[in-house]
Amino acid sequence: MALFSKKEDKIRTSFEVLPTHLGIIMDGNGRWAKKRGLPRSAGHKAGANVFRTISDECANLGIKYVTFYAFSTENWKRPKEEVDALMQLFKEYLLEAKADMTKAKNSRIEFIGEREGISQELLDLMDEAEAETADHTGTTVYLAVNYGGRQEIVSAVNKLIDDGKKDITEQDISDNIYTYPECDLIIRPSGEQRLSNFLLWQAAYSEFWYSDVLWPDFGKNDLYKALTDFENRNRRFGA
Ligand code: FPP
Repeated sequence: MALFSKKEDKIRTSFEVLPTHLGIIMDGNGRWAKKRGLPRSAGHKAGANVFRTISDECANLGIKYVTFYAFSTENWKRPKEEVDALMQLFKEYLLEAKADMTKAKNSRIEFIGEREGISQELLDLMDEAEAETADHTGTTVYLAVNYGGRQEIVSAVNKLIDDGKKDITEQDISDNIYTYPECDLIIRPSGEQRLSNFLLWQAAYSEFWYSDVLWPDFGKNDLYKALTDFENRNRRFGA
């Protein structure tokens, strides 16, 4: 008997069809920490390391755009200690990137979300990372920080109003949101099956892939499983 009886069961590490734009909701850090009797910040720290591994792997695979949901507009409601720990992790990642740009490989780092509420120190580091990697031609890694999908659409509409635009079209909105490429696949670990205000506009025809694995335990094999599954999806875009 073949080791893998169904095409879907076979996990592969190279792909004929890749999502052009992959979205990842990094969920389950808190539960991961709780299971170990650790503070939630320890879960986020472990999650930040997985972010490094998975964003590098997306670059190795040649995925053109990958968006990681790192901090939502609603996450400010969390205890200050947890918010500070997350901001510190973003800062550490950016300082690392600044100290050694080769770490970013050929990837472009871009932030999506509202700037208001983020410290000037972090904003400066974000701007520097974007400027330093602007001419990189590999994967664009979008980090959604202080991001909300509804807020993204509202801000696009307001921009269009400010420009005096009337009769707004879908294309106008697509041109004025933070990231245009339609999202092909959204991965959400940790057993939750919700979009949670992530890439609302871009997700109109996204495929979804869920897993019970908590984000700090998410590994390259989980990414390969999701991509293998995606390759076998029959996408019809409403046709
Ligand atoms: C949701 O899981 C996760 C977050 C609100 C934060 C995600 C952020 C990271 C993984 C760190 C990213 C770091 C860098 C450098 C980009 P949760 O904590 O709500 O988990 P729970 O549902 O188990 O409580």
